[in-house]
Amino acid sequence: ELKWKLMNREEVSQVRGVVLQKSTCEYWNKIWDFQAKPDDVLISSYPKAGTTWLQEIVDMIQNDGDIEKTRRAPTDIRMPFLERINPPYIIYVARNIKDNIVSFFHFQRMNKGLPDPGSWEEYFETFLEGKGLWGSWYDHVKGWWEAKDIYPILYLFYEDIKKHPRREIEKVMEFLGKNLDEKVLDKIVYYTSFNVMKNNPMSNYTLSSLMNQSVSPFMRKGVIGDWKNYFTVAQNERCNEDYREKMDDTTLSFSMEY
Ligand code: A3P
Repeated sequence: ELKWKLMNREEVSQVRGVVLQKSTCEYWNKIWDFQAKPDDVLISSYPKAGTTWLQEIVDMIQNDGDIEKTRRAPTDIRMPFLERINPPYIIYVARNIKDNIVSFFHFQRMNKGLPDPGSWEEYFETFLEGKGLWGSWYDHVKGWWEAKDIYPILYLFYEDIKKHPRREIEKVMEFLGKNLDEKVLDKIVYYTSFNVMKNNPMSNYTLSSLMNQSVSPFMRKGVIGDWKNYFTVAQNERCNEDYREKMDDTTLSFSMEY
C-alpha cells in the first residue's frame, strides 16, 4: 500500500520496496543498465543532502570557474538526474536502397578496414540478399520504422535532408529540444552542406589512414540518383522486383530520384 496519492502530482510506485516516482519505476531497467563512460561523473546523495551544491561546485571546476559557461542552463539541464531521464532520444537516417548500394560499394573499395567488395555485379546480389556487411538493408530500415512508433525516434531520410536541408535541420533541433535563432540555423545549413564538409578535414576522413581516398573519396558525390550511373537495366528491374516483394509489409516509402 502506497501512502501517497497526491492530487495533480506525479504518481508514485515502488521498486524493491523503495517508493519512487512512477516514471522512474517504469524506466527502472534502463536506469539499472546505465553504463558510465570513463569521463562521466556521477553525483549521488540522499535527497536534500547537498546535491545542488555539489553540482554547482563540480560544474564550476569543470569549466575552470567560467561563470558564463556554468550559467548556460539550469542545474537539472546541465546535470540531468539519472532516475528522471527518459529513454534516450534516437535519430535515425535512412537512404534509398539504390543509392545506398552504390555508396556502400565505393566505400568498401576505399576502406582498408573492410573486405574488398569484389565486382559490382557480385556486390549488388550480395547486398539484395542481405548477406553483405551489417546485414539486410530491408530489415534495418523497416525495423527502425516500426520502432519509431514505440520509442522516441526521429526518423529522417537522406533525400529529404538533401532537398530541404533547413527544414530537416530544424526537425533535428526541435527533437533535441533546442531553439536556435535564424542566423545560427543558416550557419548550420552552410557548414553541413556537402562541399563544405568535403573540404573539412574534420569531417571528410582525410586524416584516417584506413581510407584510400585516391580509390574513391569518402565524401564521394553526395547526391540522389547516382545509382543511374551504375545500375544496368536488368539490375534495376531485379532491384525493383525484390524491393516490391520485401517492402510489401511496410508503409515506409523512399524517393529514389531528385
Ligand atoms: P556518396 O557515396 O553517395 O557520396 P555515411 O556517413 O553513412 O558513411 O554516408 C556517406 C555518404 O553520405 C556518402 O555518399 C557521402 O558523400 C554522403 N554525405 C556525407 N555528408 C553529406 C552532405 N553534407 N551532403 C550530402 N551527402 C553527404
